[in-house]
Amino acid sequence: MADTKKADRLMDVAIRRSFLMPSSEIYGSPSGFYDYGPVGTAIKHRIENLWRSEFLQKEGFHEIETSLIVPEAVLKASGHAENFADPLVTCSSCKNKFRADHLIEQNENAKKEHVKAAGLPPQQLSELIKKYGVLCPNCKKPTLSEVGWFNMMFQTNIGPIEGNTAYFRPETAQGIFLDFARVVRNYGSRLPIGIGQVGRSARNEISPRQGLVRMREFTQMELEYFFNPKDQSHPKFGKIKHEKLRFASEEGHPQEIEIAKAVRDGLIANEIMAYFLWKQKMLYLAVGVPESKFFFRKMPKEETPHYSKGNIDLEVETSYGMVETVGTAYRTDFDLSSHSKHSGADLSVFVEEDKQRVVPHVVEPSMGVDRLFWCVLEHSFREKTPEKDWEWFAFPPAIAPYHAWIFPLMKKDGMDEKAREIEEHLRASGLIVYYQDSGSIGRRYARADEIGVPYCITVDYDTLDEKSDKHSTVTVRFRNDGKQIRVRISELAAKISGFVKEGKVTG
Ligand code: GLY
Repeated sequence: MADTKKADRLMDVAIRRSFLMPSSEIYGSPSGFYDYGPVGTAIKHRIENLWRSEFLQKEGFHEIETSLIVPEAVLKASGHAENFADPLVTCSSCKNKFRADHLIEQNENAKKEHVKAAGLPPQQLSELIKKYGVLCPNCKKPTLSEVGWFNMMFQTNIGPIEGNTAYFRPETAQGIFLDFARVVRNYGSRLPIGIGQVGRSARNEISPRQGLVRMREFTQMELEYFFNPKDQSHPKFGKIKHEKLRFASEEGHPQEIEIAKAVRDGLIANEIMAYFLWKQKMLYLAVGVPESKFFFRKMPKEETPHYSKGNIDLEVETSYGMVETVGTAYRTDFDLSSHSKHSGADLSVFVEEDKQRVVPHVVEPSMGVDRLFWCVLEHSFREKTPEKDWEWFAFPPAIAPYHAWIFPLMKKDGMDEKAREIEEHLRASGLIVYYQDSGSIGRRYARADEIGVPYCITVDYDTLDEKSDKHSTVTVRFRNDGKQIRVRISELAAKISGFVKEGKVTG
């Protein structure tokens, strides 16, 4: 069930604590755009780096970075120029424009009959608008037009010559298909080949809503896994085949299914897709989304994108309701064959076993970073308790915005200089740390908790007192239970790095 008040409250916290900022705020913040503040940027980059590590580096895949602006010819070949559209309805009275399927699904009578409007063609949507007497949400009149298509790509022109039409890419994937042949040539690679990228895409949503969930500009982490269609096995499938994934049943209730059974029964198209679903589950657990809060769902045909033979989404429970955050598509040879046909380029690969050239098939796990970021906020947010009199975030240390904050107990008697020295030393050891000396020590602990910093390091009088048996030690406070231990400064960097690796958050 959606709880938009909860979502609004979390967005307010996120903006006050430098996670997020509405874009172009001093000019009125157009909807569908958010900037990341210093805290949010740090977390976002750490999520992206975790993806890089898990989905690219540990698999021996390539990472590339391709252009944001692509010529029209690319998007004609990919089918986006023709198919990448949402249903649009206009009010003939107030001239406002709306997304037709959303209006129908928000209508009380349609809701009672559990009408699913997503994916229906314009003519059927027009009929539903009439059937349920859907009114213009702005002027409340029955003056909605027939439904038409609205292409969601942002259009521009390359250079000063008119007609040199281009678009801001609607997915990072196309850049990977365009560069595929060169990567293969340069590396002399054999199938299977994985190429991924992290980057911005843009979609001119008719009515962006739900904060980071439906934005007009957003970041994707996409992997294209190219393989010989004759061999749909995956070398690591044996390791994960007896593991389980939660899948939505027809009625929508999630149930655990053994991966091998899901492939055998055709719920998952092949071993390759199954392997990447498993990787998604592991990544979600690593960033702090509990398993009970997400499941996989096979998309019905009418909701499957034009390039895909079958999609499996990962959906997460949020205060906006269930949100799709990953789509895994079996894109077959759709893109490479189409680009080959339109450009004349040979995008096939020689397969030695078959003694012939083959146009590879593609499985694509595509993750939205911003949506995942929002889910992480939702599931890491903790309310005040009698033990902790402030709201805080329980981020896993691997994605927290800082590894540690460093304080002098007081800004005097050399404690501040010592804390600065330790700050430099920890930074040189590769840790992300921040020095703070304003406010009481209790208030500083609270401020660190409020943005989810897992460890606070304090220099006190004992640190400097040569007669004390605690000389040259500092306190390390753990975020989740506030417990403290004393650690030798000479061992501090190694200890903190070890805690981060273990995910230790209590003393
Ligand atoms: N590449 C899949 C998507 O952008 O939705």
